Order: sequence, then structure tokens, then C-alpha cells
Amino acid sequence: MSILSGHARVAGIAGWPVTYSRSPRLHGFWLQRHGIDGAYIPLPIRPGDLPIAARGLLAAGFAGANVTIPHKLAAFEICDTVDDTARRAGAVNTLVFRDGKIAGSNTDGYGFVANLQAHDVDPVAGPALLLGAGGSARAVAAALLDAGAVVTISNRTRARAENLARDLPGLRVVEWNTRNAALRDHALVVNTTPLGMVGHEPLELDLSAAPASLVVADNVYVPLETSLLAAADARGLRSIGGLGMLLHQAVPGFQSWFGVKPVVDEELRRFVAADLLA
Ligand SMILES: NC(=O)c1ccc[n+]([C@@H]2O[C@H](COP(=O)([O-])OP(=O)(O)OC[C@H]3O[C@@H](n4cnc5c(N)ncnc54)[C@H](OP(=O)(O)O)[C@@H]3O)[C@@H](O)[C@H]2O)c1
Repeated sequence: MSILSGHARVAGIAGWPVTYSRSPRLHGFWLQRHGIDGAYIPLPIRPGDLPIAARGLLAAGFAGANVTIPHKLAAFEICDTVDDTARRAGAVNTLVFRDGKIAGSNTDGYGFVANLQAHDVDPVAGPALLLGAGGSARAVAAALLDAGAVVTISNRTRARAENLARDLPGLRVVEWNTRNAALRDHALVVNTTPLGMVGHEPLELDLSAAPASLVVADNVYVPLETSLLAAADARGLRSIGGLGMLLHQAVPGFQSWFGVKPVVDEELRRFVAADLLA
């Protein structure tokens, strides 16, 4: 880490537990690359303590913070202002402290779409099928709809998908047990569930009848290559892992706090991936 001056700008990630977070490594890489007088640190904040902690960080002169589990909903409530990305996602993952006020946004949807584009996949080239209806599905669905895509959602608990469709007009819902057949009508399928993540069951998705042009995206990034991505590769389909989304979602926050728009490139990807493989 570089030596800080009294002018250093400081941000961090609020979570509990926060020890697993790769964000300090990711932002630390960019700080070093750009020679910025600043720091990005883990902020272990217990459930329920975010309101008092965030006001404390604001009073202590922090530039802002990322917010992760379990604080993303609480973060929404403590903001003085929230933008459309946060409102549509129903949660906040990025706080910017300015002029004594807390502004909240949600960059997960931006990160997802930017990662598709980095892989030369046009998010509106054809209909997208999202599997899952949790927090990340909401952010991804909102970003795809805002980009002009046709979006379908399939979730184990149908009522939850319908709630999402009520909040995000235009979203279509199909039954969880018809997801294999639904692949035929879609250009992109996205796993937004934790299925396939270390410690979870694999996602059951039969790609055998999928169109050869289907793009398969998995938001899970531990492991880097999930069984879904391996199945897509084996079937000759294009596959996109979740690490790129994680890297891209960090760009707007870094730019707000440290004044430089950082680039997601192969060197960064390898640096963060090395920690996931360790
Ligand atoms: N790459 C990135 O930058 C990024 C960003 C955010 C999240 N993620 C990853 O995305 C995943 C989901 O995160 P989240 O915050 O959206 O989670 P969440 O809010 O807890 O939502 C989980 C969703 O998965 C479904 N689900 C869980 N277990 C299931 C099972 N056994 N069978 C079928 N469906 C199941 C749930 O369905 P029910 O409604 O039926 O319970 C729900 O729709 C995590 O692995 C997270 O690490 C990655």
C-alpha cells in the first residue's frame, strides 16, 4: 500500500462478515495503478449497526463506501438521496458522501451489462431469461429492461418473481419447471441464484435443446468456472462468468470517491482471480 498524506481520500466496504470480500483487493489494485493518495478498507459492521456506522463514516470524512450482505436494504433507508438504479433495484450497494449528505446507488445492474458488453454481447440482441428473483436478479432485470431488452424471469418461488414483475413493468414470468423449454425462446440465460457456488448444489439446467446462439451467463464467481459454465462450454455455447460483473460494478464507486474512471482489464482480472484460486 502506498504512503498516505493528510489529504488521502478513504472509502471501504461495509459488510458482516466482510473478511471474504475481494473489494479491498480490487480497489487497492486501482489505487496503486493510478498512484492515488487514498485507501479502501474493510469495514466490519454488525447487522443493525449500519445507520450509526454510516453517519460516523460521513462525520469522519470518508468519501463513501460499498455495502454488501447484510446491509444492502438498510443502506437504502439511511440515504439522503437515492438514484433510479437504487430505486429500481430496491437496494443500495454504493454510498457517496458529499456536502454532509449520503447518496445511494446500485451498480450491480451496470456491472452486469458492462460485463456483457466487454464480451461483445449486445444486451438487447434478443430476449433474456433470468433464473432467480433475489436481490441481484432485481438489479440485473432493471438494467436489462432499462437498456431496452425483453426480459423473462423464472424463480423457484413463483410469487417472488411476480412481485418483481409488479415492481418492474414489462418483466415476463415463467414457471421454474419450464426453464429448460424456455431456453429455446431466449438469446441469453443468466443464473442469478447462488446455485453452483461453493457450498451450494449445482444449478440444474438442461442445455441440450438450447439454440446454438444462446449466451450463458453465471453471476456466481466462486468457483470461477461453475458447472453451468462448464456445461455451456461442453455444448459449444458462449459462456460468461460472474467475476467480470464484480469488477465492472466497482467502477462507478471508485470514480466517485477517487476521481478517476478505472479500467477493467486482463491484468486486474488475473490479480483478483488469483485470490479466488488461492
Ligand atoms: N458477480 C457479481 O458481481 C454478483 C453480484 C451480486 C450477487 N452475485 C451472486 O449472485 C448470487 C445470488 O445473490 P442474491 O443476492 O441475488 O441472492 P438472494 O437475494 O438470496 O436470492 C437468491 C435467489 O436464488 C433462489 N434460490 C436459492 N436457492 C435455490 C435453490 N436451491 N433452488 C432454486 N432456487 C434457489 C431464490 O429462490 P426463492 O425465491 O425460491 O428462495 C432466490 O430467487 C450469489 O451467489 C451472489 O454471490 C454476484
